[in-house]
Amino acid sequence: MKAVVAGASGGIGQPLSLLLKACPLVDNLALYDVVNTPGVATDLSHISSVAKIEGFLPADGGLNKALEGADIVVIPAGIPRKPGMTRDDLFKINAGIVKGLIEGIATTCPDAYILVISNPVNSTVPIAAEVLKKAGKFNPKKLFGVTTLDVVRAETFVQQATGGSGDPRKTVIPVIGGHSGETIVPLWSKAKPAVKIPEDKLDALTYRVQFGGDEVVKAKDGTGSATLSMAYAGFRFAESIMKAAKGETGIVEPTFVYLPGVPGGDAIAKETGCDFFSVPVHLGKDGAEKIEGNIVGEANEYEKKLLVKCYEGLKGNIEKGVEFVVNPP
Ligand code: NAD
Ligand code: LMR
Repeated sequence: MKAVVAGASGGIGQPLSLLLKACPLVDNLALYDVVNTPGVATDLSHISSVAKIEGFLPADGGLNKALEGADIVVIPAGIPRKPGMTRDDLFKINAGIVKGLIEGIATTCPDAYILVISNPVNSTVPIAAEVLKKAGKFNPKKLFGVTTLDVVRAETFVQQATGGSGDPRKTVIPVIGGHSGETIVPLWSKAKPAVKIPEDKLDALTYRVQFGGDEVVKAKDGTGSATLSMAYAGFRFAESIMKAAKGETGIVEPTFVYLPGVPGGDAIAKETGCDFFSVPVHLGKDGAEKIEGNIVGEANEYEKKLLVKCYEGLKGNIEKGVEFVVNPP
């Protein structure tokens, strides 16, 4: 298994590369960034794990060299938010960065699983899809927007709100929709095992999951957004993809996918009016195998109200990403 991190020298990229270097599922790890990859790769190369590691810069076709033979490419390249910014404010710079990286993937390793972390995810994933379509290389089963941090936050915050003292990872909470503010919808009613959230805590808990990113941006006070929790979440999702690729069954993860391209996605696309949406997806050797049932239709009344707001915001974000490639500015 060859893994590539694009944006490997950044706040997410470095700890994510560390986790991938330590992961026994990874045989080869390529680090790509516009700066500092020789240093990061040399540092990580001293770790006594199986993965062979190399760092690449843009000079001398570095991107294509990094991507050559890749099975999985994780993309945390791009600028992060500062206080007062929305994720959409990042579009201007990050749209072009993601477009360029995906063009490289379309040329060099079009069969790789592509995991997009760069914000705004609601738009960068549609950008990636359009670039791949244009190149005739779009496989919707292998393109994923990484929304795992929202799931990780829901798992953590629900324990705090309910006074739970167990292992937060043992409660499975689907978080669906997109990855920004009101487009993020935790489905507490679908938690397994069931969670009992006091009514007077429900709004605050939901808000905390939807705006958890702001909490970190504010606390970091101008120095960036979530990096360590994101590296954890990004690795958790990448590990699930790799385990499924190696034949492990029964792996289900919420992720932002192109619904019409994944079996079971059409009904949700019809109901939401959104072609891209984060839903729990069964992962297999070929990537997104299927979406089971219509989780949107099973939401309770409280969650349905949240979903109405989600659709409003998400549709515009998706269109903006598609337009960026179809009618370039
Ligand atoms: P950072 O600034 O610390 O790191 C970004 C890295 O990208 C830098 O090392 C930079 O040199 C590199 N880069 C810039 N242009 C590049 C290019 N063309 N090719 C390769 N690398 C390039 O930022 P960060 O804190 O690591 O965040 C990265 C992105 O991840 C941001 O857009 C942020 O909003 C997003 N993010 C997403 C989630 C999520 O849940 N999906 C969570 C946290 C952060
Ligand atoms: C997050 O959810 O922490 C990330 O999307 C980063 C951000 O800008 O909030």
